[in-house]
Amino acid sequence: MFEMGDDVKILAVSAASASVALVAALVIAGSIERPIERLARAAAELAGGDLAARAPEDGPAEVASLARDFNEMGNALARIFDARRELVAWASHDLRTPLANMQAMLEALEDGLAEPADYLPALRDQVRVLSQLVDDLFELGRIEAGALALELRELPITPVVERCLVGLGAEAAIRGVRLETVGPADATARFAPDKIERVLLNLLTNALRHTPTDGCVAVVVKPGHDEVHVRVEDTGDGIDAESVERMFERFWRGDQARSTPGAGLGLAIARGLVEAHGGRIWAERRTGGGTSVSFTLPA
Ligand SMILES: Nc1ncnc2c1ncn2[C@@H]1O[C@H](COP(=O)(O)OP(=O)(O)OP(=O)(O)O)[C@@H](O)[C@H]1O
Ligand SMILES: [Mg+2]
Repeated sequence: MFEMGDDVKILAVSAASASVALVAALVIAGSIERPIERLARAAAELAGGDLAARAPEDGPAEVASLARDFNEMGNALARIFDARRELVAWASHDLRTPLANMQAMLEALEDGLAEPADYLPALRDQVRVLSQLVDDLFELGRIEAGALALELRELPITPVVERCLVGLGAEAAIRGVRLETVGPADATARFAPDKIERVLLNLLTNALRHTPTDGCVAVVVKPGHDEVHVRVEDTGDGIDAESVERMFERFWRGDQARSTPGAGLGLAIARGLVEAHGGRIWAERRTGGGTSVSFTLPA
């Protein structure tokens, strides 16, 4: 009897422990399962296109940490989509302006309010603005997609600078601005000449645009230990602290620049191209007036 009573007790204790373990397992499983279900639901909503879908960051520590990571991913995705939307909105605004100008000129011609010869140069200008903008957007798209094919070569940089200065000679002469190159002729770097020519042209066009008559735009080339330093400096109106910070953002233009043609893409493209070479680019206010924009290329 005594032995049987013990057995029953042992059996009862075992059954009770098993039940407690089962209940505990169910409670723990439930506390993991519910947050995981909510995380799965948020993931399905995000996958379905709801960029605001987020998971509650509660439950056991590991699940809460997973939910936090998921929510951070959601925030990053939302930021990327916002940036895309902004880019498309800005681009279509800038494409619309020359198109509207061309439409107005064509209507005036149709209504006999002007002769074709009156508007031909202006129409050609607007076509140039449009094709420049399309080229720039295309280049920026390739840079941002990481789809740039750089044909890197070890070359002296000064001939590339000279080529750009010759190309801009006529415009500089019209504006009464002197163009100069400073530095050794044999400083070599590793770069794709067509891309660096584009960078230099973008910097030089800006410098020319912002430099009044009798001013000077100089390109200074300085070879260093493991990189070559190129600086485009002008004696123009200079830049404020906000410009130094923001001028490389796409579509950003300073207040004074808004009355002149341009989309605000030149420096964004220059930065993308220089960084694709492994270099850096930055702007500074020159003491005594004017602006300098510098970039480096691996030597
Ligand atoms: N040399 C400079 N002197 C003064 N301000 C400058 C100079 N270079 C650039 N900036 C400022 O930086 C802004 C951005 O330059 P960026 O080249 O990206 O665009 P943009 O010249 O206005 O237009 P785009 O290059 O697309 O024709 C300019 O609008 C201007 O406000
Ligand atoms: Mg520019």
